Amino acid sequence: MNFKEQIAQGIPTELPKKKTYPADANRAPKRKDILSKEEKQLAIRNALRYFDASWHEELAAEFAEELKEYGRIYMYRFKPAYKIHARDIAEYPAKSTQAAALMLMIQNNLDPAVAQHPEELITYGGNGAVFQNWAQYLLVMEYLSMMTDEQTLHLYSGHPMGLFPSSKNAPRVIVTNGMMIPNYSQPDDWEKFNALGVTQYGQMTAGSFMYIGPQGIVHGTTITVMNAFRKILPKGETPAGKIFLTAGLGGMSGAQPKAGNIAGCITIAAEVNRKAATKRHQQGWVDVLIDNMDALLARVKQAQAAHEVVSIAYIGNIVEIWERFDVEDIHIHVGSDQTSLHIPWTGGYYPIDISYEESNRLIREEPAVFKEKVQETLRRHAAAINKHTAKGTYFFDYGNAFLLEASRAGADVMAENAIDFKYASYVQDILGPMCFDYGFGPFRWVCASGKPEDLDATDDIAASVLQEIMENSPEEIQLQMQDNITWIKDAKKNKMVVGSQARILYADAEGRSKIAAAFNNAIAAGKIGPVVLGRDHHDVSGTDSPYRETSNIYDGSKFTADMAIHNVIGDSFRGATWVSIHNGGGVGWGEVMNGGFGMLLDGTKEAEVRLKSMLFYDVNNGIARRSWARNEEAIFAIKREMERSPNLKVTLPNLVKDQLLNDLF
Ligand SMILES: NC(=O)c1ccc[n+]([C@@H]2O[C@H](COP(=O)([O-])OP(=O)(O)OC[C@H]3O[C@@H](n4cnc5c(N)ncnc54)[C@H](O)[C@@H]3O)[C@@H](O)[C@H]2O)c1
Repeated sequence: MNFKEQIAQGIPTELPKKKTYPADANRAPKRKDILSKEEKQLAIRNALRYFDASWHEELAAEFAEELKEYGRIYMYRFKPAYKIHARDIAEYPAKSTQAAALMLMIQNNLDPAVAQHPEELITYGGNGAVFQNWAQYLLVMEYLSMMTDEQTLHLYSGHPMGLFPSSKNAPRVIVTNGMMIPNYSQPDDWEKFNALGVTQYGQMTAGSFMYIGPQGIVHGTTITVMNAFRKILPKGETPAGKIFLTAGLGGMSGAQPKAGNIAGCITIAAEVNRKAATKRHQQGWVDVLIDNMDALLARVKQAQAAHEVVSIAYIGNIVEIWERFDVEDIHIHVGSDQTSLHIPWTGGYYPIDISYEESNRLIREEPAVFKEKVQETLRRHAAAINKHTAKGTYFFDYGNAFLLEASRAGADVMAENAIDFKYASYVQDILGPMCFDYGFGPFRWVCASGKPEDLDATDDIAASVLQEIMENSPEEIQLQMQDNITWIKDAKKNKMVVGSQARILYADAEGRSKIAAAFNNAIAAGKIGPVVLGRDHHDVSGTDSPYRETSNIYDGSKFTADMAIHNVIGDSFRGATWVSIHNGGGVGWGEVMNGGFGMLLDGTKEAEVRLKSMLFYDVNNGIARRSWARNEEAIFAIKREMERSPNLKVTLPNLVKDQLLNDLF
């Protein structure tokens, strides 16, 4: 059977042979054994409903074994033999080009070159699932191959509930991941209901088929580091020769040195795990590898004197640097931290003065001692940072729960009011007011032909559209425009494409819409093939996350999720090809609601109508909410949009004088 026939077949008619697990695969962590005996039986019963009863006996034993060994039923046997990767859209068997675009994006998320645990259908973040098992994958691809533009496929946490009649203007696919009754949204609820096979953790772009590899994180980190320097440097002064000190060279944190190089500073990233540091060095993501303090001091002084742009990985504990640089009086301009403090007791954060190996032993054998050591280190870590900030260092929390865990450890990180932290987070200080409140967020696209030349052409189109917009844009957003023009012009040089031919840039509603319209025109003129638009969920409107995306909302509404829900509904009837809404992602199950979309541009007039309507709402929904929360920059942005768009009427807040309230209670 050829590729198209295999896709159209769905679950094979003959039971495929059991496979051995590929030796070179990166297996997902073994999950918690959380189900009771009866629940395990229910999990097997649930899994077997995908298959004919004649296979049940053989499969029941195998699935029970998977559940026992890995805590989940992945149905490894059903993983297809063909190569899974983003192909040219024309290679997919489909009656609907929109459905073919979805197949391409799904396969990209499962491509072994892109996905973290491809055998377990996990794209990133350890648990960011595309589907729960291979039967769901096979069925979804079959449905997509047979559907028309008058049907919609509904996915419940990876499970295809089925194709329902709809219309040409409806989305082709509706995705929900991890939607729970709120009282059942604790981390162990995920363990249990995922093991039962009735829900999954979609992270952000994993379960919505919009992951594009490390490029997204590099761009976001670059924007953050650049703007951190802007906050503290006099206008016109560059970050060259100035220090950005941070920790972590892991999954996301590994982007920091590359981002620092693009931002043009000296980046020092401490990493306790020699292997992680060496890997980033070999990949060319960090320039210099150093494993002793004297060598680090010498190299940093040399870089400062020469106003160098360089990134240095220090193999060791971050606290060593904060403390020693204080003694040596080396000025750190910008400081942050990307150790994994969202999981502090299982190896997310390593204590000082104990070797990496000994720490790992303590985690396994003496967890209480390990916890004590971590908390002691956090107190020292914060104390050393405080000494630097007293001398003028700008420190921000990178959404990794550093301040939260430091405060729990009794470190000196609380503000005078004993409610807030001393330091702001990257969204509160940087991404929120400088980007999200103006509508700038991580817009992205994928060239569905798979041709690098198409990506080059779209880069050129995007750069010239942004250049044109910048000429008439207000002072308030000039810097954001300039940063993104620089990014897109250098994008090819930065060699960030992994898997599909994809690009990301931060743009506002006007930028996203005009770039997309220009792509659509180029497709109509036959200059490029179809393009899939999307975005990261870490954006203006799609995500309600009180400690991250919406942490700079101060009217008390940051614990609500109305914005994310409106966004997914609003996008769905304005022309999205698919929409998604997830519980969990980044900061954890029960901690965030996040949504996204995908949209196929095929060069038609209909696509132009859709993109204009949907992208306008997809950004302005969040600006309106941020403006109602009294965020100054968002009030500016939404007023400007209302002047340009007579059909937009947004409720604006009236501001109250502090004195009036101070006198009340
Ligand atoms: N990059 C972003 O834009 C972004 C945004 C939001 C949140 N975050 C957060 O950043 C954190 C890191 O994410 P990741 O994917 O890189 O995790 P990761 O676990 O892959 O990497 C963290 C690294 O820190 C190292 N480390 C731990 N303790 C250390 C110490 N004391 N000194 C030096 N190194 C130490 C670990 O060895 C590990 O390699 C997470 O909490 C994530 O949620 C990142």
